[in-house]
Amino acid sequence: MKRRELATKPRPFLRWAGSKKKLLPRLVEFWSPNYSRYLEPFMGSAVLFFSIAPQRAILSDINDELIEVFSAVKRYPRAIHSRLLELPRGKRAYYKIRKENSNGLGLIDRAVRFIYLNRFCFNGIYRVNQNGKFNVPYGGNSNAYVPTLEDFKSTSAALRRTNIIADDFESTLKKNVRKGDFVYIDPPYAQDNRKVFHQYRPNEFGLEDLNRLARSLDLINRRGAHFLLSYGWCPEALRIFRSWPHQKLMVHRNISGFVESRRLAAELLMTNIPEAHWS
Ligand SMILES: C[S@@+](CC[C@H](N)C(=O)[O-])C[C@H]1O[C@@H](n2cnc3c(N)ncnc32)[C@H](O)[C@@H]1O
Repeated sequence: MKRRELATKPRPFLRWAGSKKKLLPRLVEFWSPNYSRYLEPFMGSAVLFFSIAPQRAILSDINDELIEVFSAVKRYPRAIHSRLLELPRGKRAYYKIRKENSNGLGLIDRAVRFIYLNRFCFNGIYRVNQNGKFNVPYGGNSNAYVPTLEDFKSTSAALRRTNIIADDFESTLKKNVRKGDFVYIDPPYAQDNRKVFHQYRPNEFGLEDLNRLARSLDLINRRGAHFLLSYGWCPEALRIFRSWPHQKLMVHRNISGFVESRRLAAELLMTNIPEAHWS
C-alpha cells in the first residue's frame, strides 16, 4: 500500500439500514491482521470492512446495483464526487432524480444517482417496488450530506485491494473460502419468513436462508477459516445456529428505521474463533 493511501481512514460512503455501526468496537476485536483475507458475503455498506481496511478482501452481496456502485467508486472516486456535488438538493430535486430511469445512464451516473438517493432518502433504507424501482421517500434530514472527496479517495484505495462480487452468500462462500480466511457474516434479519426491517426485496431472506447459512458456517469451519456472525437475538437463530459459541450484546436499535421508536435490542454474536483469541 502506498504511504499516501494510509493518510485518511476510509469512511463508508453509504448509509445502510441494518449496518452494525453500533457494534463496531466489539466486532473489530475479533479481527487480526494475521488472517490472510477478509470476506464479507452480505456486505451492504461494508462498515466493518472500511473500519479494518484489510490488505486483501472479497466483498459480495446479492444486490447487483449496490455491487455496481462499489465497483464504480473503486475506479472513479473523483468523477463520482464531483458529479454528486453538481446535483441539486431538496425534496423536489430528490423526487425528480428518483423518477429518472437509471437504465439510460452510464456506469458513473448510475452510481451517482444511487449514492445521491441513498444519502438523501429516509434513514438509508434500500427498498424497490415490484418493477425494481427504488421507492424510498425523501428523508428531509437537514444534516444529510455528500461524503467528501477524501472519503471517496480513501474508500476507493481500500476497495482497490478487493474483489467485489454480485452473488448469493452460499455461492460466494463455496467458491472462495479457504484456510486462514476471516469471514464476517451480517445477514438481514428474518423471523418466520417475515423481515424485521423492510428494506430488502420481497421474500428475500427467510428461514430457509438461515438453514442454508447454518450449512455455510459448517463449510467455513471445515475449510479451516474463521467466521464472525452478527444477528438479532431470536429463538430461530439460536435453534438453527446452535452449535457455535456465542454471546449476547445489548444495543440501541431504530425499529422500522424510526429514530423515535429506538429501543434497546439484544444482538447475537457467534463465532468459531477459539475463545482464547477473543480480545
Ligand atoms: C444487514 S445488511 C448488511 C449490512 C452490512 N454489514 C453493513 O455494514 O452495512 C444485509 C445485506 O445482505 C444482503 N443480502 C440479502 N440476501 C442475500 C443473499 N441471499 N446473499 C447475499 N447477500 C444478501 C442485502 O442486500 C444487504 O445488503
